[in-house]
Amino acid sequence: MAEKKEIKTIGVLTSGGDAPGMNAAIRAVVRRGLARGVKMKGILKGYDGLLNEEIIDMSAKDVSDTIERGGTILGTARCAEMRTEEGQKKAVENCRKHGIDGLIVIGGDGSFAGAQKLANLGINCIGIPGTIDLDIACTEYTIGFDTAVNTAMEAIDKVRDTSTSHERCSIIEVMGRNAGYIALWCGIANGAEDILIPEKYDYDEQKLVDNIIESRKRGKKHHIIINAEGIGHSASMARRIEAATGVETRATILGHMQRGGSPTCKDRVYASTMGCLAVDLLLEGKNKRVVGYQNGEFQDFDINEALAMHKGISEYQYEIARSLSQNYKK
Ligand code: ADP
Ligand code: F6P
Repeated sequence: MAEKKEIKTIGVLTSGGDAPGMNAAIRAVVRRGLARGVKMKGILKGYDGLLNEEIIDMSAKDVSDTIERGGTILGTARCAEMRTEEGQKKAVENCRKHGIDGLIVIGGDGSFAGAQKLANLGINCIGIPGTIDLDIACTEYTIGFDTAVNTAMEAIDKVRDTSTSHERCSIIEVMGRNAGYIALWCGIANGAEDILIPEKYDYDEQKLVDNIIESRKRGKKHHIIINAEGIGHSASMARRIEAATGVETRATILGHMQRGGSPTCKDRVYASTMGCLAVDLLLEGKNKRVVGYQNGEFQDFDINEALAMHKGISEYQYEIARSLSQNYKK
């Protein structure tokens, strides 16, 4: 068995899209590490900051007044150089130069792929799932999803008010990259008439047109269609639907407002727990792990296995979303 390496300094970075709750995770990592006698360093702007040596010492006070704040105090970036072998070697050299022998990466699958490469080159790495998209297979929870769906849900309620007043159809596009979780959850929470998600969409617009015409006949004053970003094209879809139904149709793209704002209680608590767990794992001598939440428990998974897992949409949840809409037919 490989000899256990004693961790003296832990670095933490956030990478990819920011997510509400990332600050709670950073705070937990820093304070847990310090409490356990480790020196803590913050790496600014994700892998970019690691390659450019934007690395700072972190004290317990540096993370005061951050748990309630959206975004990430460390900053984040998408860094093309980190995808190259030269970039990965430089990242390892910079870790060594700054005495970082354990690295905690808060981000999505892309960020974990970076951590996997660094771990292969000898830096002990642990990943924490941070993305509003919920698209990480080894975990039922990712930092930021809860806040983002609540933000989107409130915005959709508002669009619905005006949509009803004008007796319009509204297509509301939510984020999620190639995954439909935000759309599916909002579809259920907002009682949408139709939910379009990449995992299920068959590009049959005639079904939508028929649905709208039928619900008008029944006297419905609004028709909310939640469209996932992975399908997109909401504006042109709205024009086609208006032409085919005669019902005034508007498209609203919620965009980056879904990624901001103060994190919910759940995001603060889960992110804090995952932050502590990541430090504990490193100090137990674990490496190349990803923290996750499954079946009511916080767990950790091998990073290679985690990245190889496939996440599908819940068929049952999709079916109930449709069955709760009045237009649903078997
Ligand atoms: P997320 O982490 O949310 O999935 P990205 O896919 O944009 O977001 O990845 C974030 C960053 O992780 C990228 O900008 C890049 O620096 C790094 N990264 C992504 N994929 C790889 C890879 N295959 N190898 C090394 N680094 C990667
Ligand atoms: O991964 C989070 C996310 O907000 C996705 O939902 C979206 O596709 C993407 O990031 C947007 O990225 P950017 O901020 O680079 O426009």
